[in-house]
Amino acid sequence: MIDFECTPQVDLEFMNREHRKAFDDANALKSLLDGALKRRLYDDIKELQEAVLESEFEIEAEVSEPGAVEIEQLLQTLLLDTVTHFELEEQCMEEYRFPARAEHNQEHLRVLQWMAEEHSLWTAGCSVETIIHLSDYAADKFPKWLLNHIVTMDTVTASYIRRNGGTSL
Ligand SMILES: [Fe+2]
Ligand SMILES: [Fe+2]
Repeated sequence: MIDFECTPQVDLEFMNREHRKAFDDANALKSLLDGALKRRLYDDIKELQEAVLESEFEIEAEVSEPGAVEIEQLLQTLLLDTVTHFELEEQCMEEYRFPARAEHNQEHLRVLQWMAEEHSLWTAGCSVETIIHLSDYAADKFPKWLLNHIVTMDTVTASYIRRNGGTSL
C-alpha cells in the first residue's frame, strides 16, 4: 500500500486532494479484501479440521464476515471518485489549453477501462482467486500506476496550469 503522505505533491491543491482520496479508497479496499480472504481461508481450514478430526472441535471466529457488499460499495466509490478526479483534471486542462491534454485524457480513459474490468471481476463472483487478484490491484498495481502518473503527467500538467494563471482551488 502507498500512503498519500509519502507521495510528491503537485502544484494544484485540488489535484492533491483527489490523489489523497484515491490512495485512501485503494487502502480501504485492500483492508476489506484482507478481511474477506482471512475469513475465507479460516472457513476452509475449519472445514478441513472438522473433516479430519471428526470431532466437536470448535474454533473461535476472530474475523468478521467477508463483507462482500462493503467491498462492492468501495469498488463503486473508487470508480466514482476516479471519474470525478479525472473529470476535474480534464476540465482544467481544457480551460488552460494544456498542450498534451489529449495524451493525458487518453491515459485517464485507459485506466478507467482497466478499473471497470477489475470491478466486473468482483461482480462476476467473489472467489478466493478474485479476492487475491483485487487485493494485488488495490495494494500494488493501482497505487503504483497512480504514483507514476502523479510524478509524470499530473506534475507536468499542474506546473503548466499554475504557470499560466491557474490557481490552487
Ligand atoms: Fe491526478
Ligand atoms: Fe491525471
